[in-house]
Amino acid sequence: MPSDQRTILVTSALPYANGSIHLGHMLEYIQTDIWVRFQKQSGHRCIYVCADDAHGTAIMLRAETMNQTPEALIADVKREHEADFAGFQIGFDHYSSTHTEANRHYAELIYTRVRDAGGIAVKTISQLYDPEKQLFLADRYVKGGCPQCGADDQYGDNCEACGATYQAAELKDPKSTLSGATPILKDSEHLFFELGQHTEFLRQWTRSGRLQPEVANKLTEWIDGGLRSWDISRDAPYFGFEVPDHPGTYFYVWLDAPIGYMGAFQEWCDANQFDFDSVWSADSDAEVYHFIGKDIVNFHCLFWPAMLHQAQFRTPTGVNVHGFVTVDGRKMSKSRGTFIKARTYLDQLDPEYLRYYFATKLSARVEDIDLSLEDFVQKVNSDLVGKLVNIASRTAGFITKRFDGQLGPELAHPELIDRIRAQAPAIQAAYEAREFAKATREIMTLADEVNAWIADEAPWTLAKSDDTVAQVQPICTTALNAFRLLTLYLKPVLPSLAERVGEFLNVSSLDYDTLDDTLLNHSISPFKALMTRLEMSDVEAMIQPTEDVVEVKAAPAGEPLEAECTLDDFTKVDLRVARIQAAESVEGADKLLKLTLDLGTETRTVFSGIKHAYDPDQLIGRHTVMIANLAPRKMKFGVSEGMVLAAGPGGTEIYLLEADSGAQPGQRIR
Ligand code: 2FM
Ligand code: ZN
Repeated sequence: MPSDQRTILVTSALPYANGSIHLGHMLEYIQTDIWVRFQKQSGHRCIYVCADDAHGTAIMLRAETMNQTPEALIADVKREHEADFAGFQIGFDHYSSTHTEANRHYAELIYTRVRDAGGIAVKTISQLYDPEKQLFLADRYVKGGCPQCGADDQYGDNCEACGATYQAAELKDPKSTLSGATPILKDSEHLFFELGQHTEFLRQWTRSGRLQPEVANKLTEWIDGGLRSWDISRDAPYFGFEVPDHPGTYFYVWLDAPIGYMGAFQEWCDANQFDFDSVWSADSDAEVYHFIGKDIVNFHCLFWPAMLHQAQFRTPTGVNVHGFVTVDGRKMSKSRGTFIKARTYLDQLDPEYLRYYFATKLSARVEDIDLSLEDFVQKVNSDLVGKLVNIASRTAGFITKRFDGQLGPELAHPELIDRIRAQAPAIQAAYEAREFAKATREIMTLADEVNAWIADEAPWTLAKSDDTVAQVQPICTTALNAFRLLTLYLKPVLPSLAERVGEFLNVSSLDYDTLDDTLLNHSISPFKALMTRLEMSDVEAMIQPTEDVVEVKAAPAGEPLEAECTLDDFTKVDLRVARIQAAESVEGADKLLKLTLDLGTETRTVFSGIKHAYDPDQLIGRHTVMIANLAPRKMKFGVSEGMVLAAGPGGTEIYLLEADSGAQPGQRIR
């Protein structure tokens, strides 16, 4: 073991077990994975663990509506999450769940140590309670009139109309969103972590160089504003761990979520005969880093270090905070099709495109990252295909065809290789500091230099004449050695490409301990395309959510109902009579018809998945019913400005709703 080998435990935030992974999540896992792969490539012992965040009311209720046990639900979701992560090459050493015995052990241990050190207060609090569901209601499950401005239908914590914040009990005419019942106020005993006891510790901890400056500044503001005690318990029924000395009371999901980092690590230790305490004891010299989003800083930089400290564990070496993902400069949106699930992306595109694109945008700052779709296509094609892979694709063929697959005994331009190698410390420092944009920029500058040199040497011209063909081998040998080094530098970002390059160059490792190797008199495999160009049409296909195609499918009998929709929700849907003015097939889409709908005062274009059921000509002049106020959606074939209503089992049996032919286009149906 090299004497400077570090032991580093790394985590990403634990995704909730009640939803799919989307590209907003993927930014964090990709950022963490690149950093972890870089550490491993540098020879350090780096262990990357994560888990599903499986507890809480939302998961309990979702399981109930799905007629499943919470355990079955979280097992299904975990499988889905793990498949998505594997698809993006996120190389966890262990992926667990917070609902494990290992996690229960550490949740109980930390709680009892904190309690025994005087860090827990028991207080009776009064909360809204749904007498029908027999459940205390978190703020998001209560709606009513805003106590400030009177706006209807506001959630229990703040008003979307006037921005006021308040207590749920202050709402006018509150209703439970779960049952519609009027909640009552009910008392119960809750456990509070006395965060205020740790004010001085946190003041010093947050200023000890473990955090980004903008994060430390925000925390100082919070600390100066006074630290309030934190409610760490919830009443039954709740899906979680029961508090050992308080039957009927459960740890709040956010109490055992970060402890889940320990639970997952303990399981990894058990499987690898590794000593848990060598990382988590208060005097450990191992490093621990958490990668998180900017929305959960308080949990990781206040509650978590304070609890660890009081429970006599070490605290994190660093908490690395990133911003959010926007798509084309706007918040990800389901109606625009830009709320892209990991699986939707993987069904269409190579994960390494996104890994690379995010890398070119990531720095150590807490900035939002824009996935600009045109820039994405342009950058992937220009950098990866046009610069990096191009070095090999324009030189490897000569080695295979003219030199029997053998690299030559010497380089044509050793200084070029030396210069690329000399950049290693700067590139390594950029990776270490999470300045991936800087690292990729430096690597691409080197790729430009190599390409320019190859163009000057023009081996394709030299190969044409018997007099000069001998010069081709050292030129291509230089180019392919440069290619090896650039791939080594990009390996944390592009692990599969690096693997394919390893096979092509017949090298078993592209780790930093091979940095000084030069491939001479070395046989390589025939070149195969290493990466294909990304087409804008593929990206457009991805941002067309499958739900955009109105495909009528009969649901199996007994399929659970969707979450309840109130009469208010329903009356928001503006149903209008529409006359089908034109109908045509859409080239390249086997289910879609493009309809032009006359609404009396305007016409709308709607793409509808009814092609198997209707000849376009049959439809012209017919009156139907459309949702006229559906947000427009960008689809692969154009923008769809509404939806027509149809029913039936699907295929050729889809029945478009018919409005009475006496009805006027534009007339509203209530
Ligand atoms: O915000 C979230 O998605 C949480 N599930 C993150 C938990 S991170 C850690 F503390 F477990
Ligand atoms: Zn209001």
